[in-house]
Amino acid sequence: MVTTPGVESLRFIIEELASWPYDPDRASLHVGDLGWNHQFGAEWLAGSLRVWVEDDRLAAVGLLDEPDLLRLAVAPRARHDEDFVRRLADDLDAADSRVLPVGEVAVEARFEGPLRDLLLARGWQDDEAWTPLVRDLTDPVPEHHLRVVEVDAHHLPDRLAVHHSAFDRTTFTQQRWQAMTEGPGYRQARSLVGYDVDDCAVAMVTVWAAGSHPGELEPMGVHRNHQGRGHGRAICLAASTALQEMGASHAFVSTPSTNLGAIATYRAAGFEEKTQVHDLRRPADSSAAVVTG
Ligand SMILES: CC(C)(COP(=O)(O)OP(=O)(O)OC[C@H]1O[C@@H](n2cnc3c(N)ncnc32)[C@H](O)[C@@H]1OP(=O)(O)O)[C@@H](O)C(=O)NCCC(=O)NCCS
Repeated sequence: MVTTPGVESLRFIIEELASWPYDPDRASLHVGDLGWNHQFGAEWLAGSLRVWVEDDRLAAVGLLDEPDLLRLAVAPRARHDEDFVRRLADDLDAADSRVLPVGEVAVEARFEGPLRDLLLARGWQDDEAWTPLVRDLTDPVPEHHLRVVEVDAHHLPDRLAVHHSAFDRTTFTQQRWQAMTEGPGYRQARSLVGYDVDDCAVAMVTVWAAGSHPGELEPMGVHRNHQGRGHGRAICLAASTALQEMGASHAFVSTPSTNLGAIATYRAAGFEEKTQVHDLRRPADSSAAVVTG
């Protein structure tokens, strides 16, 4: 049965999710996504999660990134369990809004297994295309030209300034930073800011590790006045080095396939471009929504 967890369950959910083997080539929901969303507070994050428990074990975690967009991770042991996957599809499609509202909705379900085909057979359609990019961290990561520091209270204004310049519609603030870094996901995270030869803060990134599993970059950006000078490549290399130091097997990211600048930048930093993955959308006029018990 699907439930919305309480704040007290967040640590368990994050630790459990971090323990599942992770395929960076598909870039499904990662602990980094939960960690990043802790910026809105523990209450908000818990209220945005949906969890499925089977035989007293966590089987799936969904994050409502938007009221009509659920991003899903399913435990490897449950991905091919046909009964579970059918019940999961029923919950996603239910007309009683137990997970998603009636009408047009989207689901990000990139893991292997029959869920995608099941939803497509029910009238769902391929939606926005995303491009995963992956860097193997077995070998040493090349040097770069930036002076990179880990963000603390002293460097926070620089980090926020770069962030706001790179993402003009961001709502990220000092308070959000505080809330994010207080979350259980941040125990395995690092935020970096890069300074150029003039000691000007030009680039920033946060990396999220999950033990020895692949670690995620979220977010990454370069100050708009300093783009086009190799700083994006450099901060992605710095992020890779940080994840390598934290024990991650790979660094990965997924970016909308339309963000050609980001894709070029990750590639320049040695990330391999993987096959596009599509969200799934249930059209508003679909008769897919079913009433289930
Ligand atoms: C994407 C971004 C980080 C690039 O930063 P940057 O400092 O300009 O990138 P670099 O100068 O290091 O460029 C690295 C490579 O990408 C290429 N590139 C960068 N932006 C590009 C663009 N808009 N279109 C095509 N290629 C681009 C460069 O030509 C360079 O290629 P090369 O190594 O073959 O010469 C920056 O534009 C940004 O902050 N964008 C907004 C935030 C964002 O989209 N973040 C990524 C979210 S996943």
